[in-house]
This record gives sequence, structure tokens and C-alpha cells, in this order.
Amino acid sequence: MPERWTPDNWRKKPIQQVPEYPDRQALADVEKQLATFPPLVFAGEARSLKKALAKVANRQAFLLQGGDCAESFAEHGANNIRDFFRMFLQMAVVLTYAAAMPVVKVGRIAGQFAKPRSSPTEKRDGMELPSYRGDIINDNAFTPESRTPDPRRQLDAYRQSAATLNLLRAFAQGGYANLASVRQWMLGFVKDSPQSRRYVELSDRISEALGFMQACGLDLESHPELRTTDFYTSHEALLLGFEESLTRIDSTTGDWYATSGHMLWIGDRTRQYDHAHIEYARGIKNPLGLKCGPSLKADDLLRLIDILNPDNEAGRLTLIGRFGAEKLGEHLPALVRAVKREGRVVLWSCDPMHGNTITSASGYKTRPFDLILKEVRQFFEVHAAEGSYAGGVHLEMTGQNVTECTGGARAISDAELNDRYHTVCDPRLNAEQAIDLAFLLAELLKNERSSKPMPAVAGL
Ligand code: PEP
Ligand code: CO
Repeated sequence: MPERWTPDNWRKKPIQQVPEYPDRQALADVEKQLATFPPLVFAGEARSLKKALAKVANRQAFLLQGGDCAESFAEHGANNIRDFFRMFLQMAVVLTYAAAMPVVKVGRIAGQFAKPRSSPTEKRDGMELPSYRGDIINDNAFTPESRTPDPRRQLDAYRQSAATLNLLRAFAQGGYANLASVRQWMLGFVKDSPQSRRYVELSDRISEALGFMQACGLDLESHPELRTTDFYTSHEALLLGFEESLTRIDSTTGDWYATSGHMLWIGDRTRQYDHAHIEYARGIKNPLGLKCGPSLKADDLLRLIDILNPDNEAGRLTLIGRFGAEKLGEHLPALVRAVKREGRVVLWSCDPMHGNTITSASGYKTRPFDLILKEVRQFFEVHAAEGSYAGGVHLEMTGQNVTECTGGARAISDAELNDRYHTVCDPRLNAEQAIDLAFLLAELLKNERSSKPMPAVAGL
């Protein structure tokens, strides 16, 4: 029998990636205050997402998850959120059209602040300071004051998440996501890009189809599915004190839910089955993600699935592979086979970002677009070969015109990375590259659809 679960159980377990707060009392005070704040999301919404993800697990939808590596306090603004949302809608419409099925939209946003680091400290010119761990913990500037973890930042992160969510809800439900505006979602700087023609063609086809339906007498305004969309939020459940404070009992079901975001995932560095992060995650009823990197063995994965999804519930668990284009072929097939053999229902998603990070000749942390594409292609190939379903992608991307990943249709070179390298963490796809990737995914999804056996026809 697993131990009885409470939101603070994780405190008794070994833990990785914890910041060292010098003022423990100040931290406790902030956590206490957060526990009195309103939930950011509601249990019913998390349940709706789980249902949508269950459809993906049953091959009836596709998952698009993505956003910043780390949200930043300095870049918080309406334009950024709007551009991100527009790009997301564009990608989703490209995928929906190709796959002829719903796309479940989950942003890495409104809570994606805390970062695991490969080293607890950073050295520059002989000075050693704590590593930057995301704006919810400390500041990126390389001074002792900035790098000292400050618990009050958790209050700022909470407020920023609330404001971001407020705008996202307005965009998703208030008419901005109306399919009739498909053409207007195009971002200014993408307009003269190589993909813009493809996107315009697609949006024209959609507009024609809508016009046709209207001519047939269908009142488009009376169909909320065409005017609004469901958009969900997600982040890595890394800073467990913060998560605990926002973990609440749902009055409808009596179950515990994380109310900091709809879906939470556990990172590749904190997924030890007997440690704090898995202990926390097992007790909340939200849909969960689990990052799966090259060091994960099939037996460990099965054990983690037992802990995180003991009832084998569809939509509960998304396995997010992040192997790297060169390593996926060596690792993913064995995991897929083990899951299949044991009859576990999971959603397989592909994060083609975190295994493909390199340092460029000019010293920037970057990701070559070709490697990203290669990992995605292989992900689809492996699932096709194993008779499993390639259900989604997990991307780091921004609606801004940054130069952080090399390649793409505009072939960003190593020398150009310096032009608009804005990330304080991992390199993101810019809007053009993200839409480029969506078109590639669209082709893969179309192939998948055409190779699917035709559904049996009743009576034949
Ligand atoms: C991330 O998603 O930003 C991340 C740190 O990923 P991973 O846990 O897969 O390394
Ligand atoms: Co990242």
C-alpha cells in the first residue's frame, strides 16, 4: 500500500535541485501567504484537459505543448502574450487541418518559472555564485545580491501568472480565437517569410470552407467551437514549496489538485521514483507529464508509471521523450515496447529541444533546426514501427523574432545568433521556425492518417 498522501509529504524525501534560501523564516512566511491566495486554475479545468488528453492517448487528437523555457519578469507584457497566442493558434490550425482531428493546446506559460540547472554554482572570472534558477527564485545578473534566492519572488511569479492567465482566457474565449480570423493571426514579421504563402493558402481554404458552410445555412456565430478555443497552461513542478501552497482540495470530488497550472510535469533531473518530486506528483489529480531522457531504463519507467498512474487512466500521464536526434533511435523503441507489453495507457510526446542543445562556435547555447526536425521525424518513425501512437510535441518557442536556434527557412547562421538572442535560459524557436515545424508536423500527421487502416464500416 502506498503511504497516505498529503501535499507536504515530499518534505520527508530526498530532493534534487533545491535552492538554498538564506532566510528560512521569510520562505515559510511566503509559503503561508501563498496558501491563502486564490487558485490560479480550477480542478474542473484540469479534468477537462485530462479528458482531452485521453482522446490523444486513444489516437483521436494531437497534443501541442510549448512556450518559453523560462518566463521572465522583465519580458512580461501584453504584446508578448498576444504574439505567443497568435503563433500558437497558427500552428494549431495547420496541424488540425492536416490531421483532421482536434489539437489539444497546452502552453508552457503562466507558471513556467523555475529551472533545474546542471551545476548549483556558476564561476566567472574567479568569482563563484549560485546558478540562476529562474525568476521565481533569483535574478540572472551575476552579483551576489541578484543570485541569492529571494522567496518574495514567488509572490511576483504568482501575480504574473494570474495576469497572464487572465489575458489568455480573454483571448481564448473572447473572440480573438475565432476561426474566421485565421488570416489575421499571422504575425507581422512572418508575413514576408517563406511559409507565409503556405499559411495564406491554408487560411484561404479554411475561409472558403466556412463561407461554404454559411451558404448552406449554418449559422457560424451559434457555434462556440468556431469562435473560441480551449487553451491550457503547464509548467515544470520543480519548486515544491510553491506547488504545495497552491495544492487544494477540490470541493466537488474531495481530491487534491495543483491549482498553479492545469498540467504539471516532472523534469528529467528530478524523476527519481523515491524522491520528493515524484512523491508530490503522485498525489495530485492533474494530468501529469514525465520527461524521459537517455538515462531512463524501461524498468524504471514502468515503476514510475505504476506510481504516477496506478489506475492506468487515459490522459493522466504524458511521457515526454527528450533524447536528442542522435540518441532517440537507441532509447525510445525499448521504452515504447515495454509500455505496450505491460498494457499501460500513456500519451507519447516528443520534446526535440532538450537533447539537441549545443554550444555554437561563437559561444552561444543553441539548437540546430535540422536536429530538431530529425528528432521529430524519428519519433514518428519509431511509433509507426512499434504500432504505437506519436501523440504530441513539446516545444520551446516564442512569438518574438529572436535568433536563438540556428537554421530554419531563413537559415539563421551561427554569426547571426548575436542579433536577437534574448533567452536567459534555453534557446527557443522563433515564430517563423515554429510555424515551419508545424508544416513539417502536418506532413507527418497526414502520412500517419493515410497509413491508418480504414475504420470498419458497419454492415460490411
Ligand atoms: C525544460 O523543459 O525546460 C527542461 C529543463 O527539460 P528537461 O527536464 O527535459 O531537461
Ligand atoms: Co528548457
